[in-house]
Amino acid sequence: MAEQKDLQRDPIVHGSLAPHIFIAALLLAGTVAWAFYDEMWGKRPWTTYQAEFVERYPDLLAEKAKQAAAYEQGLADDPDIEKIRAQQAEAEAAAKDEIAAIDRRINEVINPRVTKLTHAMTGVRSMVTALVYQLEHAEGAEKERIENELERVKQEDNVIEGVPTIDGDGTTTTETYKYEALSAALEHAKAIKAQLFTERAKLDAPARALTKKLEQAMNRKRPGLSSQQVRGLISKVRNFDKGIKQIHVPDPIGLVDRCETCHLGIREPLKITAEDMGGKDDKLARTFVSHPTPELLTIHDPEKFGCTPCHGGNGAATVSVKEAHGKMKHWLWPMYEEDNFESGCLQCHEGSLVLDHAEKLNAGKELFRYRGCWGCHPREGFDTERAQQRLAEQAVRTVEDEITNTKLEIERQKKIADDPKATEAEFTRALKIMR
Ligand code: HEC
Ligand code: HEC
Ligand code: HEC
Ligand code: HEC
Repeated sequence: MAEQKDLQRDPIVHGSLAPHIFIAALLLAGTVAWAFYDEMWGKRPWTTYQAEFVERYPDLLAEKAKQAAAYEQGLADDPDIEKIRAQQAEAEAAAKDEIAAIDRRINEVINPRVTKLTHAMTGVRSMVTALVYQLEHAEGAEKERIENELERVKQEDNVIEGVPTIDGDGTTTTETYKYEALSAALEHAKAIKAQLFTERAKLDAPARALTKKLEQAMNRKRPGLSSQQVRGLISKVRNFDKGIKQIHVPDPIGLVDRCETCHLGIREPLKITAEDMGGKDDKLARTFVSHPTPELLTIHDPEKFGCTPCHGGNGAATVSVKEAHGKMKHWLWPMYEEDNFESGCLQCHEGSLVLDHAEKLNAGKELFRYRGCWGCHPREGFDTERAQQRLAEQAVRTVEDEITNTKLEIERQKKIADDPKATEAEFTRALKIMR
């Protein structure tokens, strides 16, 4: 009877699961939507940054390419540059024939001659060296035999075919040398080669100096990159590889910095300002700027130093700007505020009283010194005497502690020695320590 009553109340038979299924379906749809959102934007805000960068940067580069081209065309009409260019061409033309003659002599006469003689020399020299070695280790009749053999090899004629004559124009003859003479002929050919190189450098010097002058004059007038460099950058951004941009320095601290996932322009070789990328009021434009002090990144190559050692922040995080900059709760190294950017220098440069590229820090250190704060707040680089005094005091304290401990130990051992119940071993040990 009871069983029947239970059956009557069976929810599957008598109720509906529709509300439950409806709510579960809603939750499922919600989590799917949430997962999609996180995947596309929520946890990967940088996808938007990178899409925008690839969109905006080419416009700036196109502008730069135009400037570079205009400048390079203008150069042709620049009288200063044109003058140096003409001088350079003149100097090159003046030395051209003589340089060509020297090159011909080196390539067609001296180099082949050196090769031929070296080849012959290698064969004889190895025999001579081997015999000299044997001679040093031989005795008696054997020694005499080897001496004779050595003399024979040295006096033997080496016939070398197809050697360019030293003063000729490439015509070859057959030359015959004994060992010593062969060595001398080879040295002579090498000396002439060195002399020809020196002469060539002298002839070439005026044109080379002018080429350098031309380059410098062009760079002085150049407003930025050359059009070839800009073309390189354009092709780089066209083939932009979307994804996490990471600096990884395994030794010694296992540094992982992904700041450049968003700060995409930071190491570009041209000055990029927020105005260039969309205006000062645009958050993205502010993110895409190039580093304001590129010299600092030349001294501290980010491939080795990363970004966080100077800036602080959470190098590995990319899920939000707040987390990347380490501004969330419980992160111990939040990024320094703009006013304190130079605080980061301190952890490596604490000892230097004056540091280039760190005016604010220098002013702060000066203030710290001037106001005498270091009298009570010891810092590296200030008042080394006090630091030494502290070390000495610490050493004295260590010794005093040792003395106290030893005295206590002696008292303890005395008690053991006086104790009639002490074992033989304990007694001897106590005596030893007390002495
Ligand atoms: C998720 C993208 C993202 C990542 C990753 C990121 N940043 Fe930023 N960063 C921004 C944005 C956006 C701004 C501009 C904020 C503003 O001006 O309101 C910015 C601004 C800055 C500024 C300018 C000063 C300031 O406080 O606004 C510095 C410096 C900076 N970031 C350094 C870093 C460093 C160092 C890292 C790596 C540890 C890093 N950023 C990682 C997005 C990012
Ligand atoms: C040697 C220390 C050092 C390193 C390494 C370094 N920075 Fe900086 N960074 C600075 C200093 C100092 C400033 C402030 C410069 C100034 O105001 O002239 C600065 C400024 C910035 C700014 C602010 C730009 C602006 O105009 O608001 C950003 C963004 C930035 N750095 C990002 C990076 C990123 C990303 C890296 C890693 C690739 C990096 N920095 C590496 C020292 C460093
Ligand atoms: C992680 C450690 C580290 C940090 C942080 C750091 N530096 Fe350096 N810095 C070095 C090292 C190492 C060298 C020597 C580099 C070399 O010789 O290749 C150096 C060299 C220099 C030099 C040139 C040599 C000298 O001592 O005059 C200057 C200038 C300099 N740093 C300025 C700065 C400034 C400014 C900052 C902060 C914005 C800074 N550094 C932050 C490690 C650091
Ligand atoms: C006569 C000694 C003395 C001089 C000089 C002195 N201080 Fe202090 N300072 C102290 C003492 C003591 C404290 C408190 C330490 C504590 O409460 O643990 C302190 C605390 C501080 C703190 C807070 C530190 C913290 O961890 O909360 C700062 C910041 C500070 N001093 C800055 C300065 C500056 C800047 C100067 C120079 C203008 C200076 N002090 C000069 C003795 C001195």
